[in-house]
Amino acid sequence: MDIAIIPGDGIGKEVTAEAVKVLDAVADRFGRRLNLQHLPWSADHYLDTGVTIPANGYDTLRGFDAIFIGALGDPRVPDNRHARDILLGTRFELDLYVNHRPVKLLDERLCPLKGRQPHDVDFTVFRENTEGVYVGIGGRFKAGTDDEIAVQEEVNTWKGVNRIVRYAFEFAKARGLTKVCMADKSNAMPQGHALWQRVFREVASQYPQIEPTHYYIDALAMYLVVDPAQFQVIVTNNLFGDIVTDLAAAFQGGLGMAGSGNIHPGRTSMFEPVHGSAPKFAGKNVANPIGAISSAALMLEALGMKDEAAAIEAAVLAAVRENQVTQDIGGRLGTREAGDGIVRSIRAR
Ligand code: NAD
Ligand code: IPM
Ligand code: MN
Repeated sequence: MDIAIIPGDGIGKEVTAEAVKVLDAVADRFGRRLNLQHLPWSADHYLDTGVTIPANGYDTLRGFDAIFIGALGDPRVPDNRHARDILLGTRFELDLYVNHRPVKLLDERLCPLKGRQPHDVDFTVFRENTEGVYVGIGGRFKAGTDDEIAVQEEVNTWKGVNRIVRYAFEFAKARGLTKVCMADKSNAMPQGHALWQRVFREVASQYPQIEPTHYYIDALAMYLVVDPAQFQVIVTNNLFGDIVTDLAAAFQGGLGMAGSGNIHPGRTSMFEPVHGSAPKFAGKNVANPIGAISSAALMLEALGMKDEAAAIEAAVLAAVRENQVTQDIGGRLGTREAGDGIVRSIRAR
């Protein structure tokens, strides 16, 4: 298997180094050949060369079986042009329409919500990943004056909404789950989100064994906090999915815990922690590597390596239970030491 590794910026580099150690350890343990090829695309690379992603960059990425990415974002590139080209560009160009973000509490003590057990926080968010407000359509007129007009369009297509909603139902069906919740803002956005309403009704009618529920996104945010146990699968648009998955990351112990996959079924897909480059933590060996390591497990699972993925998940769970973790979740270890512990546990299994 050929896997592209893009460490990126800030703590992205540090957590990627730990995910790479873990991938090497499972490859050894299970006798797999994982050919990990590092790509330097990052703020440093952009500032050195003026290139965010080379002209053939997306084609290069399509040549891999999967892509692993740390995080992108650097205060020295205020418009985040390189993040747009490398991260959002890859989502669009490789048409990675499913943003798969599992939300799973590993230990009661990590949850900021009162009295929640692991079985109360166990659901998956499917975020539409190729349209919505992220398409960048719009413009500014009379910019910088008091007459400035700024327009940022939201794009919703039948094809785009249908495929993500259908993916959410198929995921639920394959796992024997019984509920899918769609969240939109169709009360205030009656054009674009009427499409979500229609498609959701149509697709739901084809899955009679699954109960479809709907919340407006503001109510969803509230219900997530007061009663996360009611959720199994949530499907929503690009922006709302971005926001609720940071909220949901907090239920798991913080942004350092959450992993994700940017997926086009059957094609080269990209895996990354939900968090960003956290510049103030960069280079301090304090970032939690579990979100990155969990993303590596999601990647192996998507590549058909179920036992390997399960071995990583078991090692992460053991590290959390034994508190062999970083400070953000109550441990005393640095990024590298937390990664080392997970590697040792994989090699020992
Ligand atoms: P962030 O996710 O980088 O950090 C927010 C806060 O979350 C941090 O200050 C820290 O308290 C906590 N945190 C995040 N990751 C952690 C980890 N691994 N361990 C422990 N704590 C962690 O979000 P931000 O500060 O809004 O953004 C910083 C930069 O990252 C920006 O340039 C932003 O655009 C970019 N970003 C990139 C991605 C990505 O590459 N996928 C995602 C989000 C943000
Ligand atoms: C994420 C990030 C990105 C997004 C940013 C860096 C553009 O927040 O992956 O969640 O909004 O999709
Ligand atoms: Mn985000």
